[in-house]
Amino acid sequence: MTVSINQELCRACGVCGHVCPRHIPEVVETGGMKATVISSQRSSLCMECGHCAAVCPSCAIEVKCFSGREFDPVQELEMDGDRLLPFMRQRRSVRRYRENPVPREIINRIINAAHCSPTGTGRMTTGVIVIDDRKSLATLSELAYRMYEGLGKSLNNPVARLFIKRRAGEKRLRALQDFVMPGMHWYIRWYKEGKSNEILRDCPALVLFHSPVYEPVGEQNCLLAAFHAIMMAQTMDIGTCFNDLIPPACNRVPEIRKLLGLDDDREVYASITMGYPKYHFRRIVPRDLAEVRYLT
Ligand SMILES: Cc1cc2nc3c(=O)[nH]c(=O)nc-3n(C[C@H](O)[C@H](O)[C@H](O)COP(=O)(O)O)c2cc1C
Repeated sequence: MTVSINQELCRACGVCGHVCPRHIPEVVETGGMKATVISSQRSSLCMECGHCAAVCPSCAIEVKCFSGREFDPVQELEMDGDRLLPFMRQRRSVRRYRENPVPREIINRIINAAHCSPTGTGRMTTGVIVIDDRKSLATLSELAYRMYEGLGKSLNNPVARLFIKRRAGEKRLRALQDFVMPGMHWYIRWYKEGKSNEILRDCPALVLFHSPVYEPVGEQNCLLAAFHAIMMAQTMDIGTCFNDLIPPACNRVPEIRKLLGLDDDREVYASITMGYPKYHFRRIVPRDLAEVRYLT
């Protein structure tokens, strides 16, 4: 059983079952006495989200996957919307970094924010790989540039293009042709001329977020974990930028998979470059959603 209830502590208030996405704990009444039990029909549906244990007023619930781990008490925080919104509006993608490395204790603090990101299935299966040594970053870039150069050639070949469309789908093909490759054409040129490394933006650290291939919402989990890290980095004036060019190279190039020690059943779905910002933005870019409307 993934969830167990200490009947001596439980007051059968029923809140655990109410917050549970699948109503696994349920209050039953026998002989005029109420008790919380685990539904035998649904116990196997437990997502291990921990909500039942986190909400229980009498600490009566234990979730197996968290055994031995503390559930820290929730605190009153000073954060409010008047502080959070300006902080979010001031977030910018930072693509130009100073050369000095980001100390690992700072990277670890940033990654701490990713540990608590939401996950689609409740359980955390997202993994992180940090690359902060110049040699590995250089090897990874070199292999990624080679992959994109080969991809560019394939896209110019009608037969290979058809093959890519079949494998990756129309949407991905269009993104490659209309968005990725026109910029990549220049990136490859500047890289070969030794001017800059635009794929990695000459970053001192790269953080990869990977997930099991068959995790139901693994890609979204990785993106959310990355965004948590991005927000945490901003609190420490560390610049970050999502990088969509790196995950395909990590997944498809066997030498990169080997360099990363990426298990066969995992793929990288998000990555962020990271470093001390070379420049600071002075104004907020005005931007709104395409639409906000209530249906009625
Ligand atoms: C899912 C996602 C993927 C992105 N991939 C890249 C990328 O590969 N390279 C890059 O330079 N910026 C990338 N960005 C950053 C966007 O280009 C950036 O958000 C946009 O330019 C707006 O700037 P802002 O983040 O400062 O608001 C990505 C952003 C998102 C949300």
